[in-house]
Amino acid sequence: MENKEYKPVGPGMRRHGPGGPAGSGEKAKDLVGTWKKLLGYCRRYSALIVVALVCAAAGTVLTLIGPDRLSDMTDAITDGVGFDTEKLSDITGQITENITDNFGIVMDAVASNMKGSAAPAEIEVNGSAIPVEDQSLTLTIIGGADMSDEAALRQAMESFPESVRKALFTDIVFDGVTVGAADQAELLKILGSVSDDGEGLAEAAGSLPESVARIIEPSIDLSVVTGIGFTLIAMYAASWLLSIMQHWVMSTVTQRVSKQMRSDISKKINRLPMWYYNRTSTGDVLSRVTNDVDTIAQSLNQSLSTLVSALIMFFGSLIMMLITNGWMTLTAVTASLLGFVLMFAIMGRSQKYFLRQQSCLGNLNGHIEEIYSGHTVVKAYNGEDEAGKTFDELNSKLYESGFRANCLSGLMQPIMSFIGNLGYVAVCVVGGAMALKGKIGFGVIVAFMMYVRYFTQPLSQIAQASQSLQSAAAAGERVFEFLEAEEMSDESGKTKKLGKVGGTVEFDHVRFGYEDSDSVIIHDFSAVAKPGQKVAIVGPTGAGKTTIVNLLMRFNEIQSGEIRIDGISTKELTRENVHEQFCMVLQDTWLFEGTVRENLVYCTEGVSDEKIAEACRAVGLDHYIRTLPHGYDTVLNDQTNLSQGQKQQLTIARAMIADRPMLILDEATSSVDTRTELKIQEAMDKLMENRTSFVIAHRLSTIKNSDLILVLKNGDIIESGTHDELLAKGGFYADLYNSQFDQAS
Ligand SMILES: Nc1ncnc2c1ncn2[C@@H]1O[C@H](COP(=O)(O)OP(=O)(O)OP(=O)(O)O)[C@@H](O)[C@H]1O
Ligand SMILES: [Mg+2]
Repeated sequence: MENKEYKPVGPGMRRHGPGGPAGSGEKAKDLVGTWKKLLGYCRRYSALIVVALVCAAAGTVLTLIGPDRLSDMTDAITDGVGFDTEKLSDITGQITENITDNFGIVMDAVASNMKGSAAPAEIEVNGSAIPVEDQSLTLTIIGGADMSDEAALRQAMESFPESVRKALFTDIVFDGVTVGAADQAELLKILGSVSDDGEGLAEAAGSLPESVARIIEPSIDLSVVTGIGFTLIAMYAASWLLSIMQHWVMSTVTQRVSKQMRSDISKKINRLPMWYYNRTSTGDVLSRVTNDVDTIAQSLNQSLSTLVSALIMFFGSLIMMLITNGWMTLTAVTASLLGFVLMFAIMGRSQKYFLRQQSCLGNLNGHIEEIYSGHTVVKAYNGEDEAGKTFDELNSKLYESGFRANCLSGLMQPIMSFIGNLGYVAVCVVGGAMALKGKIGFGVIVAFMMYVRYFTQPLSQIAQASQSLQSAAAAGERVFEFLEAEEMSDESGKTKKLGKVGGTVEFDHVRFGYEDSDSVIIHDFSAVAKPGQKVAIVGPTGAGKTTIVNLLMRFNEIQSGEIRIDGISTKELTRENVHEQFCMVLQDTWLFEGTVRENLVYCTEGVSDEKIAEACRAVGLDHYIRTLPHGYDTVLNDQTNLSQGQKQQLTIARAMIADRPMLILDEATSSVDTRTELKIQEAMDKLMENRTSFVIAHRLSTIKNSDLILVLKNGDIIESGTHDELLAKGGFYADLYNSQFDQAS
């Protein structure tokens, strides 16, 4: 024989909390379709969304232009820093030209003087008197020099007599500054020691004659710099304003959308058929109302605009880089991509641990929830050790996966800055080399430092945003699945309405099976309750008693047959109209967080305190309520304060206060003691006077006085009649009654 070992299913075997873990790893089945639906849902706000996206785009474009202007600014500054060598060469050029001109004039004068007249006389050129001996000396010097060689000429000029030299230099005016003869001569002398490739210029610059230094001294063109500065400030301010506006608009849209979504879900809950509740857990619906709507709102708020601006930033910076300089672009892009390859390698590894962490968290939550809600049972079976062990195990697993996931994800930030820095270094090195060769200005390097940042930043933003879009789609899928679930039929067209009812209730060949199962529960149920009658429905567990009253309340729709109230089929009435006819007290009590009074009155209007007290006296609860710290104003909730029986007493009192034409009691007194039950019985009997009532009870003593007893088995009435008739018949009912009677005696 096969020996199967039985493995106990202990606490902690159920792995997920309500709704299951809805986390970052969740993926939508139909990403595009769901986003279409989501955007369709936001259709009313499409104009606003477009405004926000345009703001995001415009702000990004403004930010992108920044580096270009900044590059211009840097160039204006670097140009102004250091001596203006261009002007210096202009000055020397002008001096040389001047000297050449003057040289011609002096030579002409000297030559005509010396050769033309028999007795040469002193002449005056450019305000300098040149004696005869100086003139002849000059001619001798020139005679021995090669005039076509500039260097030789300069050499020759050095040895000219003072009077001639004075005549060669005349004042020149440059940028409004007069450079005198002495200064010109000095400048030429100083520059004579500077080699052609500019070596020695820096030292020479310090000893320039004052007038020349004034012309070429460093001067940043402040008007250009401030002009660009103000443009930049205006651009950044505009970009800041645009981003504020975008956030404001997007927050408005998302908060409105999530409000709308929550209220749609809430309205939907009331339109769902009963069987939906049987199939779906409360936690699941709850997580759709809260978590999923939240996820969608967050994603709408951030991801959409982030994605748009990140994409523009990415391609925009690429375009701007390409426009500015091709080689530098290649450098920046290559460096960034290298970094990203590294990042994705690490991300891919950490993803696995994130998923594991998520599921470990789900398991742990499920376990805690289970142990917490079942703590009495756990204690009763001494399951604490077992539960503790399971907890420790799950906790360690969560620690491990959480540790790894966080360690790896902690690397992300450093890697991101590493990528950025890598880009900076590459741009600086390559840019520096290119600037040395004069291929780019210093400003281009500055611009690229910013472009590298603008280029790498959006990539991780895009990765994050796309993940967020994914989880929003998953959440959206769940929300739309709920919103699109099949609803109860629309009843707004129904015009028939029950006014003051007499109280005849007819079941006419009713047939019913639950929506999600094939088996038929009620096969062919027919019965008539006359006005004011007390009808008891008895039968073994699972016979279909609750099902019958649920059909009467139209919580479920019958498959065939009819249920009529005062001759009108309940199908022709609205559900609300049917519900208005009945007070219903169930075995499951339901109290909400509120005072005793609020719980008693619930949805009934215009109830006097006297009526409340009377009802409580009738069910034997009045005395107890008065002993509570705040009497009828004591706050209750479903978990605490009252015993199971007291809760039943309270719900019965609630039904009495509601005071509706008919009554349904389903095991309403199953939890109270027999003496209290008898007391309630009296009150009930008074309540049932002139009201058609349906009573389901296992304790047959409470329904002995019924006008009609229906004995149900497997959904069929097997016996019916009054207590005495059924006892006399000696059938199923008599057996049932006698067994209880035997027990009691
Ligand atoms: N929501 C549901 N979906 C499917 N089957 C259901 C559902 N509710 C009850 N049933 C089935 O219908 C049958 C009748 O259930 P019902 O609750 O009417 O029994 P009952 O007579 O009220 O039993 P009890 O005396 O234990 O309250 C049972 O076999 C049960 O398994
Ligand atoms: Mg039942």
